[in-house]
Order: sequence, then C-alpha cells, then structure tokens
Amino acid sequence: MDATTNTPVPTRRNFFKETLAAALGMVVAVIPGLAGLAVFLDPLRRQGAAGGRLIRVAAIGAIPADGTPAKFAVVADKTDAWNKFTETPVGAVYLRRVGADKIVALNVVCPHAGCFVSLQKSGKDFLCPCHDSRFELDGRVTSPSSPSPRGLDSLEVEIRKDEIWVHFQNFQPGKREKVPVG
Ligand code: FES
Repeated sequence: MDATTNTPVPTRRNFFKETLAAALGMVVAVIPGLAGLAVFLDPLRRQGAAGGRLIRVAAIGAIPADGTPAKFAVVADKTDAWNKFTETPVGAVYLRRVGADKIVALNVVCPHAGCFVSLQKSGKDFLCPCHDSRFELDGRVTSPSSPSPRGLDSLEVEIRKDEIWVHFQNFQPGKREKVPVG
C-alpha cells in the first residue's frame, strides 16, 4: 500500500495471480469451442448434403469386381436416452461396383413394410421374402405385382483412401417418395 496516495501497490505475487486467473479464464472459454469443433469434424457425426450419418462400411477391395452386390453390416456407436452402445449394428447395405472407382449402395430394408431383402442365388436381382417384392440390381422394382411403392433406397457413397463410407439412413416404408426416418 502506498501511504501517501492510499492506493494499493501492485506486487509480484498479485501480478502472477492475475495472470494465472486470466489464463484459466481463457482455457475455460476455449474448451467448449474445441469440443464443438471436434464434434463437427467427427465423420461419424457429420451430416453431409447427402443426409444420413457418414459411416465407414468396407474396404474397396472387398467389393466383387464383376458387379455382384455384396452385403455389409453398418456398424456405429448408438446412443439412446440412457445408454451409449459402441460398435453396434445399425443397419446393412448392399454395395455394388459399377466402375473402377465407382460403388453404389442400397439399403437392405424393403420400402414396402421394412423386411430385409436378399440377393437371389442367381445374383441377378433382390427378393423381399415377406410379400414377394422384387428389385433389379440397381434397386428398381422389377415387376408390377411387387407391392413395394418404390425401389430400394440408394445411399450416397464416398471413397476415401480405398475405404467406402456411406451416408447411412433409413426411410419411411409404404411411401412412394424417400422420406428420411427421424
Ligand atoms: S416388406 Fe417387402 S414386400 Fe412387403
């Protein structure tokens, strides 16, 4: 304390205390921003323009070169109101090679009422066992007697360093248009 002016004289200890408090304040302010950035950059959480959740599904080498579709589970972390489940199957897709570096993805869920379609033994089309909807390899409905109101739901694909990532999502059954679930 300055006896002549009655004002406190800054001490070295005060200087360090104030500097430390300012530094801590900055850390507290920056951490939420960094956490938000991490969430934004996490590919599992990213919602691209294509919609859906971007999930790594397979290595490109696992897709048959002859254009035969191959089925893969879609595995990701899943959270409900109470729990977080890691590496849980959240769906499945058929991946098909249509060019050297071009892969298409179809959701295995039948758009009629939600059963799972499977590739016929011939490898030339898909069949839904519940009510006999049939689909071409590109997902189109093959026969007018198929009750499915639309073709199989295609999903956006990204190839990154020889790995296939799919914008995975489900769509409401029983509708002519693709309406995302949730
Ligand atoms: S659920 Fe596939 S045809 Fe009915």
